[in-house]
Amino acid sequence: MIKQAIIPLAGLGTRLLPLTSVMPKELLPINGKPGLEYILEECIDAGINEFIFIISNKKKIIKKYFYNDAFYKKIIKKKKNPKLISQYNRIKKYKKMTKFVYQNSPKGTGDAVLKCKKYLKDKFFLMLLPDDLIIKKNCTKEMIDLYKKNKSAIIATKTVNKKTVSRWGILSVKNKKKNSFQISDVAEKPSIKDAKSNYAIIGRYILPTIIMNEIKKLKPGVGGEIHITDAIRNLIYKGEKFYGNIFKGKYLDCGTLEGYISSGLEIAKYK
Ligand code: G1P
Repeated sequence: MIKQAIIPLAGLGTRLLPLTSVMPKELLPINGKPGLEYILEECIDAGINEFIFIISNKKKIIKKYFYNDAFYKKIIKKKKNPKLISQYNRIKKYKKMTKFVYQNSPKGTGDAVLKCKKYLKDKFFLMLLPDDLIIKKNCTKEMIDLYKKNKSAIIATKTVNKKTVSRWGILSVKNKKKNSFQISDVAEKPSIKDAKSNYAIIGRYILPTIIMNEIKKLKPGVGGEIHITDAIRNLIYKGEKFYGNIFKGKYLDCGTLEGYISSGLEIAKYK
């Protein structure tokens, strides 16, 4: 079963400057709650019981968010406020489920995932990119259901405007059904001319643990980073099956300032 989720959190967040010069983007509030907590809720609701956060020395404040017990205890002792107590209990629950590993130079998602190798217990694990919120329908749950059916790797996907393909990982589509298809190839941020479709990778992946061996062999790709997309491509070429899950929820891109602002408004409308 899929019980472990990896969340890379060591990225610099340059698309959200100047906010991210002092604050990790994953802790920025979206309708009153850090974006990261929406991701954790989605996972827990889908049956995940263990998280591995990849942070960096510069982003240790993310760990502090979950390890601030002395602060909560002191203030709760004084105020005995039920709302505060339930907030603290929520944070404690997340803390209990989470391990922290470090990626001190931002070498890309592939490199981040590799740092978790020794903690992985099963043949498949979940990986989520915290910039990508999906609301209204639990995408992780959809993917785990699809995994139960075909016991293979899965990537969340949606169609994007053809003019924007070079901002995403792009999938090549085989045997398309209503909500899924087999992936015959992937390319990280291809040019408009080279893109094989406009099905973009959105940050939810169910990956086989053997991907670690592929990541180790990778050379830096687009932008000088070690991309998980390149390891996936090598696995596909070796015959590993990957499916695209055309998710039903609504995608919110919290990785850019415009996206971050409209995400807050969207979530407020929905709640
Ligand atoms: C990453 C992935 C890319 C994917 C995107 C989704 O890119 O490398 O394949 O389409 O997330 O948000 P990044 O946003 O780090 O540039």
